Amino acid sequence: MATTKTRKKKKTGNGEFVPNIVAFACNWCSYAGADTAGVNRVQYSPNFRVIRTMCSGRVAPAHVLKALKMGADGVLVSGCHFGDCHYIFGNYKAAEQFERTKALVKTLGFDERRIRLEWVSAAEGERWGQVIDEFVAQVTELGPSPLNGKPKVKK
Ligand code: FES
Repeated sequence: MATTKTRKKKKTGNGEFVPNIVAFACNWCSYAGADTAGVNRVQYSPNFRVIRTMCSGRVAPAHVLKALKMGADGVLVSGCHFGDCHYIFGNYKAAEQFERTKALVKTLGFDERRIRLEWVSAAEGERWGQVIDEFVAQVTELGPSPLNGKPKVKK
């Protein structure tokens, strides 16, 4: 039987909370946008992990909930802008699913600001960095996930 590990939350040297962010990024736009950010040496927060999906429409509510269950403090879902999805309507489906995910997250007692949906194209490396920085700041403000059971640490 699988068990959920309790992860030790990262803190900076001055004791401030540093969130764990999981970012689901579609292969054709947002993942490529993250790549563009790297190629262009965009400076942005490093405390996130990217999970590449073929389309944002493939990110089901269960994926977001599992990331939260496994210790993510925030979950980003990112895909192509409307009209650019390689599977035509995948991002419209993602937008619909995200509304359901938000409702589930609220029902489970999470602040809905712990999840976010954004459209980032392959050319928008700068924007990818801004989205990550904004989301990291927002989740840092919210503090650790309630599943991690620790109060926000500030010295
Ligand atoms: Fe990017 Fe569908 S391929 S959102």
